[in-house]
Amino acid sequence: MISQEESILSKSNRRTEAALKDIFTNDFRIGAAVNPLTIRTQEELLAYHFNSITAENEMKFASLQPEEGVYAFDEADRLAAFAREHGMVMRGHTLVWHNQSTGWLFEDKQGNPIDKATLLERMKSHIHTVVGRYKDDIYAWDVVNEVIEDEGDGLLRRSKWLDIAGPEFIARAFEYAHEADPHAVLFYNDYNESHPAKRDKIYTLVKSLLEQDVPIHGIGLQAHWNVYDPSLDEIRAALEKYASLGLQLQLTELDMSMFRFDDKRTDLTEPSAELLELQAERYDRIFKLLKEYRNEITSVTFWGAADDYTWLDDFPIRGRKNWPFLFDGLHRPKPAFYRLTELASK
Ligand code: GLA
Repeated sequence: MISQEESILSKSNRRTEAALKDIFTNDFRIGAAVNPLTIRTQEELLAYHFNSITAENEMKFASLQPEEGVYAFDEADRLAAFAREHGMVMRGHTLVWHNQSTGWLFEDKQGNPIDKATLLERMKSHIHTVVGRYKDDIYAWDVVNEVIEDEGDGLLRRSKWLDIAGPEFIARAFEYAHEADPHAVLFYNDYNESHPAKRDKIYTLVKSLLEQDVPIHGIGLQAHWNVYDPSLDEIRAALEKYASLGLQLQLTELDMSMFRFDDKRTDLTEPSAELLELQAERYDRIFKLLKEYRNEITSVTFWGAADDYTWLDDFPIRGRKNWPFLFDGLHRPKPAFYRLTELASK
């Protein structure tokens, strides 16, 4: 349901601020993650400021193929139609991931683990069906999401994909996606991508894929950041290192939490002026840095659009409100937005 307040806002609001997509028009596209609810409740904001969307959940494995051979495309189709209607491009997210993949994928009818050949066959069939269907709507896919191990020296995260198919599932996923749509730009996508140890592992993985001639064209930096971390130097070092592989880069899931990751405070009911200023300063510095890499960075997507809807309201602290975006709960520009208007391309 759209509340009365929201409906009045979207009808009466005549925006006078510059559009984000215009501010960065000579630099990169500006995207937002959306879902069937937010394309209604945030439609005016999305249409005005953004020129790219990503489905928040609707194109993940479990959403698209909940049972073997039974596809559910309705919601994903609605999001693709929204992009077309508003002249936006769309990123596809995501084909192979250890989360939000259904149980049946890894098991036979008796519930026993399947073998490698069967898993790769299922993967191929899913990728061909999905990438083929959205060929005309989606220009870039997050083909493989989050396979790097966060802790220790191990390169790859333990998962059913890895247990059953071995490391080869990664290269195969890119090959199947490339077969299904030779024009799609194919990404490896991960979080904590600017932390030095994880950055080096992501680099190692992607480099080895390139050495095997795997069709991979980009690295997605999820960029789930907060107002303190990672440091500008760490972000710059990550951009440099990834760019040295000669691939295009995109920020795919940007948000700027008001809390450090391990901060458990729950007393804040609205952001203080100091926090809003800190966030503004941080967005300003980060976008200045991103503009330096405008030849490598082709798109910056936020993991949402305005503070009325963010996954961070529940993560990592259940029920705690967060305010990670450039627009407030009523879709009005925040101090951070106004700082970015000063970066407009001449
Ligand atoms: C990861 C995934 C996204 C999303 C976020 C949390 O970053 O790539 O699809 O699930 O976690 O919302």
